[in-house]
Amino acid sequence: MYYYLDNLSKIWHRGGELQSVDYRIPEEIVEEVRLRSDIVDTISEYVRLQRKGKNYLGLCPFHSEKTPSFTVTPDKQIFYCFGCHTGGNVFSFLMKKENWNFVETVEHLAQKHGIVLPEKELSPREKEQQTRRRRWEEIHDWATGYFHEVLLHKPEGEPGRLYFKQRGIDEETIKQFRLGYAPERWDGLIEALSARGVNPQELAQAGLALERDHSEGKSRGFYDRFRKRVIFAILDSRQKTIGFGGRVLDNSTPKYLNSPETAFFNKGHHLYGMHRAHQGIREHGFALLAEGYMDVIALQKAGFKNAVASLGTALTREQAKLIHRYTGRVVIVYDSDQAGTQATLRAGELLRDMGFRVDILSLSGAKDPDEYLKTFGVEEFNKALAQAEPYIQFKYQIHVKTKPTLSAPEKAELVRELASDIIKVQSPVEREGYERFLSLELGLTLDRVQAEIAGFDRKPSKRASEEELFPNKQDISVKKRDNINRCANPTQTGASVPDGVIRAEQVLLRLLLEQLIPVSEFKEQFEEGFWKVAYHQQIFDYIEKARCIGKGAMPSMESDALQSKVAQLMLEDMELSNPERLFHDCIKQIRSINEEETVEELQARMVELEKSGDLTGALALLKEIGERLRSGEK
Ligand code: CTP
Ligand code: MN
Repeated sequence: MYYYLDNLSKIWHRGGELQSVDYRIPEEIVEEVRLRSDIVDTISEYVRLQRKGKNYLGLCPFHSEKTPSFTVTPDKQIFYCFGCHTGGNVFSFLMKKENWNFVETVEHLAQKHGIVLPEKELSPREKEQQTRRRRWEEIHDWATGYFHEVLLHKPEGEPGRLYFKQRGIDEETIKQFRLGYAPERWDGLIEALSARGVNPQELAQAGLALERDHSEGKSRGFYDRFRKRVIFAILDSRQKTIGFGGRVLDNSTPKYLNSPETAFFNKGHHLYGMHRAHQGIREHGFALLAEGYMDVIALQKAGFKNAVASLGTALTREQAKLIHRYTGRVVIVYDSDQAGTQATLRAGELLRDMGFRVDILSLSGAKDPDEYLKTFGVEEFNKALAQAEPYIQFKYQIHVKTKPTLSAPEKAELVRELASDIIKVQSPVEREGYERFLSLELGLTLDRVQAEIAGFDRKPSKRASEEELFPNKQDISVKKRDNINRCANPTQTGASVPDGVIRAEQVLLRLLLEQLIPVSEFKEQFEEGFWKVAYHQQIFDYIEKARCIGKGAMPSMESDALQSKVAQLMLEDMELSNPERLFHDCIKQIRSINEEETVEELQARMVELEKSGDLTGALALLKEIGERLRSGEK
């Protein structure tokens, strides 16, 4: 299999084949980018890697697994998953994980490492689009700077400063979030940006100015969209402003005014706070999903660097996918009002169906996380967070809240209502947890609850297809889960296998996997029942299957657990410089240990027979033992 990795690494390291004909980054620059981008560093941003000798092992980000079979080999600068056979170099990893094309990937890494790429040749249409986007980004950056500057330093920014001060936002936070203030005048932004060569029409196209209605004979002109409002710049994870939200200073309406949807800004594709949270989400291992701007700011300020907000709209699949880049777990902490609860149920369902683990943090005594933190402090928030309930239990609580006592038919209805969620739970342990929860809560036997749920018609799940979450991944075979149990039992017979045999079998398998010994040669020495460790037999079957399919082709393995064993085997530090000798030593060692075992077993049986009075039988065994020992001495 290493020869297999070697071949792949040769192909993968040639970037040129992946480049489109329109735009080729010179080969030597691609190479420079690759050399500067360490694969372990890069992949560590996505996968928790554990060192294993010269290699690293972790849970594969391209298919779901519970035991690690994803390996990274820094010597060769490649990764390979023994489960789904996805492999490649640092470029192919990012292409798959971020859904970028080759050029985008090289561009990203080049920028990260300060390598300048030559300008690319674009079609006139692409050129125009690119120019427009760059201008749009530039204008947004300048506008952010303007609002921010007004808030921090200008006399007309005083109301904004006062407002944030009242809400407990300090200058450091204002800078971290690039908060701003749009003064009370019609042309603040227009004037500021015209000094930079942006005309009002352009500002209107960017959604930051509006054209005056001149149908009533008024003169044609433009005015600022945002006036007399504190400004929340919405930054993406590249730290670029892509839109704004502006809040009034009092109770007038509309409370918030947002940038209009344009070709470059789609509210449903972004999460507020992501420019800081992507790091925090990885560190915490989950995302804290709130509703509003102020919630994110207050949460991040209180140390919850993993907080993001869905900007007041219903959570979209695109937003969920954004979170999915960094974690598979979300804690929802929406507003505690009726609308917040409804939004929680919808977001929770969407996330669950997409395969997230979802917990709900319901705050009592405050309308939203911002107010909660102000009223009760971080410590209380942490306590509440520790009490966050799994989505299904939260849903249950919502249902019973309005009706404390339930009739028998109502109970049945409620169980059926939750059954649609419970049957989607993959883990049998987790599922039983919910069934037990319901049985306790409703005063029903576990049996009855389980029967009601089992009787629920299995509806097709809306779980996000792997293709949707990993659009570049090809052909991931479905794993048969029922084989895990077989692997869990380590021996063929159930008896314990001596360490020496396990070790020798491991070395043999490694020799076979790396094709240092041909399977045919092994089979000459091989008798039925040779492998004493059950999953070694399975790995051997797998090697045989691979041999039948042909060189390099890797059939998919039966179970996660098995894949993980193969990965671990490949990562063991073993001295393999003399394969032939090693091979014969291992076979000899296994045979001799097995013989010893048999003699011990015979002795034990002999003692039993003696005790039971069967002296003839005992004598026959004694004779056999003598023969065994003599033949072993030869
Ligand atoms: N929102 C919006 N437009 C509105 C109202 C709300 O875009 N007219 C979005 C904003 O992103 C806002 C979020 O919905 O942050 C939550 O709304 P709300 O709870 O009303 O505002 P808060 O963020 O809590 O603001 P505040 O704390 O200032 O009341
Ligand atoms: Mn709120």
